[in-house]
Amino acid sequence: MSRTIFVTTALPYANGSFHIGHIMEYIQADIWVRSMRMSGHTVHFVGADDAHGAPIMLKAEAEGITPDQLVERIASERPRYLNGFHIKFDHWYRTNSPENKELSQNIYKELKAAGFIETRTIEQFYDPVKGMFLPDRYIKGECPSCKAKDQYGDSCEVCSSVYSPTDLINPYSTLTNATPVMRSSEHFFFRLSDPKCVAFLKEWTNGVDRHGNPRLQSEVLGKTREWLGKGEDGESNLNDWDISRDEPYFGTPIPDAPGKYFYVWLDAPVGYLASLKSYCAVKGMDFDALMDPNGDTEQVHFIGKDIVYFHALFWPAMLKFSGRKTPDSLNVHGFITVSGEKMSKSRGTGISPLRYLEIGMDAEWMRYYIAAKLNSHVEDMDFNPDDFIARVNSDLVGKYVNIASRAASFISKHFDGQLAYVGDTAEMQQNFTDTANTIRADLERREYGRAVRQIMALADQINQAFDNAKPWLLAKGIADASAEQKAELQDICSRALAGFKALSVMLSPILPQLSQKVASELFEMDRDFVWTDAAELPTRIAAFKHLLQRVEPAKLDELLAPPEAPVVEPGGEVIADTIDIKDFGKVDLRVAKIVNCTEVEGSDKLLCLTLDLDEGRHRQIFSGIKSAYKPEDLIGKLTVVVANLAPRKMRFGVSEGMVLAASHNDSKVNNGLFILEPHSGATPGMRIS
Ligand code: 2FM
Ligand code: ZN
Repeated sequence: MSRTIFVTTALPYANGSFHIGHIMEYIQADIWVRSMRMSGHTVHFVGADDAHGAPIMLKAEAEGITPDQLVERIASERPRYLNGFHIKFDHWYRTNSPENKELSQNIYKELKAAGFIETRTIEQFYDPVKGMFLPDRYIKGECPSCKAKDQYGDSCEVCSSVYSPTDLINPYSTLTNATPVMRSSEHFFFRLSDPKCVAFLKEWTNGVDRHGNPRLQSEVLGKTREWLGKGEDGESNLNDWDISRDEPYFGTPIPDAPGKYFYVWLDAPVGYLASLKSYCAVKGMDFDALMDPNGDTEQVHFIGKDIVYFHALFWPAMLKFSGRKTPDSLNVHGFITVSGEKMSKSRGTGISPLRYLEIGMDAEWMRYYIAAKLNSHVEDMDFNPDDFIARVNSDLVGKYVNIASRAASFISKHFDGQLAYVGDTAEMQQNFTDTANTIRADLERREYGRAVRQIMALADQINQAFDNAKPWLLAKGIADASAEQKAELQDICSRALAGFKALSVMLSPILPQLSQKVASELFEMDRDFVWTDAAELPTRIAAFKHLLQRVEPAKLDELLAPPEAPVVEPGGEVIADTIDIKDFGKVDLRVAKIVNCTEVEGSDKLLCLTLDLDEGRHRQIFSGIKSAYKPEDLIGKLTVVVANLAPRKMRFGVSEGMVLAASHNDSKVNNGLFILEPHSGATPGMRIS
């Protein structure tokens, strides 16, 4: 039975380029979509830029452009990545669109009419210089537990304690350095804690989709059970959700509430619908029919594990109580690490997807590698360069492509491209059908790694049969061979090529470009593969052309090496208030020599530096630069420290000063951290003025 499926991936914030985590998610979804289409299902696969929110507003302001212009610029880079990795969305849109405004305002009005919206006056930090309420990420201050300076409003990076921004000692706005003041304002809340809502969410999260499969993966369900509480009744641990922000804000205005906007997370998921609606307009499809709450369309969201709360609670509740169709399932994936190192959402990882493409690496190597490492669980996956080389070279090229290159040459040379089989082929065809069905089912369940392992096991079987038959011996004596011997050679090679075709069908969702080339150029087909092609025996081939390059290990070095000229984006932080020379004179900056440097046990942020300031003793300073430097790279170097900073007692010991470093959140180089180093000739203890 043919299904209609509406598929989305999380909408990326439009204030930065794609990182490898985005690409991984899109590849995961793209493979799924392609496989479903090969089964004959109708899939609408859409994405969009998540345009709203304070960070985008502030970034645009720092660059002297409007937020819409910033979104436009970021949106214009998307196709390079998407086309480059063969990720084929049907439509890519944006949340700052008329469709999204209308849909989110309607949803809000419907929620309000149903009694799910409430207003409350709350107190919040306000930056009197900037004239805006401060999101938590723009407030810093001293940690209330360990007194470490410059800690964020939610948790301390030094002692790991968790608190709220109002607990900070001497809080300041990172936008202006001003001391924030408490100010009250009326906010709009979505009554998530309403017993009707809690009851619905308990049912929805525990439910199954229309095929009887659990809507949520077991580990995701575990999380939602924690959030929703165990009780059968309407009791839960859920708080109402604050969905409004005061101006200035880049967002969707709340109807009949001047100066109030929807919090970005209210209209972000609505962007899924807006993108589909805009696509429907292009294609002449009926959006309302497609999204009929009682209709047949399945709605499937691919997301990362960090945004489960929004998608498993807020989103279905918003849809349900505004009288709309709720999602059928959530497909949640983990994060991608590179050689075991965690990626930061704003900084990405050591792998730049654009650099990957620019240095001429094949997108299908990455698609294959990612597929080989993914499963249906919420597990992180590691990109390991050696593993990448091994899988591409030994499996993909060595096992799969190799079959065609070996068998095709005999067929072209001795049989003019004609394939012919001797004896029964039913068993072989059954094997291909069975394996293809298994692969298809595994891909549908998102067990990609298992699918890839089975495809490679079949490739091994085919190679083995070919090797055992030793066709090269038959080919050697072909001039004097009997008709029977010739037929035998043709049969061996034809079976290998039939196997190659079956493998190509199975790999199609993962390697769309390569399989397309195999279908059209080698097997001379005028359409792409569908699942049932796996057991259709080919009858002739065109001359074999080169299909896929091996990876040179040097390419991986090139990919992972930092670029020559670090590009740090300008703007971001506003210059602090003017000071006079007397103020500056209070800061005693000195050249220091790093005589030793070690990691700090129990801290993933800090390095401990032993410094010589020519004082007749050494100082110890803890510095949060571990993400950017290895201890051994710093020993022996000169740097700059604030020498008269009051000593600070930290969990790991006393820190006697501060090492100066330049930083930028959005920089992908060196994790955005660069310590200062004086020109050569400077010596320890010199004063800097
Ligand atoms: O976490 C993020 O990057 C969000 N921009 C994801 C939004 S997904 C959807 F709700 F739009
Ligand atoms: Zn602390």
